Amino acid sequence: MRNKIVAGNWKMNKNRADTAQLIEELMSAVTPSAAEVMIAPTFVNLAEAVTKLDGSFIEVVAQNMHFAESGAYTGEISADMLQSIGINTVILGHSERRAYFGEDDALLAKKVDAALKAGIRIIFCFGEELQDRKSGDHFKVVGSQLKNGLFHLDGDSWKNIVLAYEPVWAIGTGETASPEQAQEMHAFIRKTIAEAYNNEIAQDVTILYGGSVKPGNAKEIFSKEDVDGGLIGGASLVATDFAAIVAAAQ
Ligand code: 13P
Repeated sequence: MRNKIVAGNWKMNKNRADTAQLIEELMSAVTPSAAEVMIAPTFVNLAEAVTKLDGSFIEVVAQNMHFAESGAYTGEISADMLQSIGINTVILGHSERRAYFGEDDALLAKKVDAALKAGIRIIFCFGEELQDRKSGDHFKVVGSQLKNGLFHLDGDSWKNIVLAYEPVWAIGTGETASPEQAQEMHAFIRKTIAEAYNNEIAQDVTILYGGSVKPGNAKEIFSKEDVDGGLIGGASLVATDFAAIVAAAQ
């Protein structure tokens, strides 16, 4: 059975003191709902966030990791390093990593393999750009990102995969996919997985929507049959907004 998740992707925001403060605020503002709750602060603040949230229902997750186990990769972070500070989930394939850091499908497939090999759960992000939607290629683009990043996996590995559909044109723009557009794409994603694997895997995978989710639109988006929660950017930096979004996941 799939579960609901609301995850906050803090991106490159909040220094050490700000991180500590936002965590304090979240601990009093966010109340348990039907959803698993996660936050993804920056690498330098992960260990302290894990310590602060020890025993809490809020899980701390990473925004990225490298595919190699160790070695000469200046500036990079391995699966083992994450696990050694208590991180068991990583976001991979965010559109900002794809666009600004040249992460392509082949590289992401390697990162996926490395995370799964280490036993780390993955929130795998993908989504079309505005021009893809305008030209009617959005299903093709999303289908190919899925296939190239994940369809080399065996069926069992999908237990550790969470998907996050994030249309690039809706990220940080204030523009949101309509609940119907989100539902349509999530249903397409499930159908594509059912065709490549089977219906059970397709039904069991959690699919989050990301892109300008706010307290005012979360409930309607999350109410769609194939939308299992959200990956939240800007609104996850404001404790009361994030708490309201978590509460919207029933
Ligand atoms: P916004 O919620 O700021 O649009 O960001 C979405 C996102 O990229 C989450 O990963």
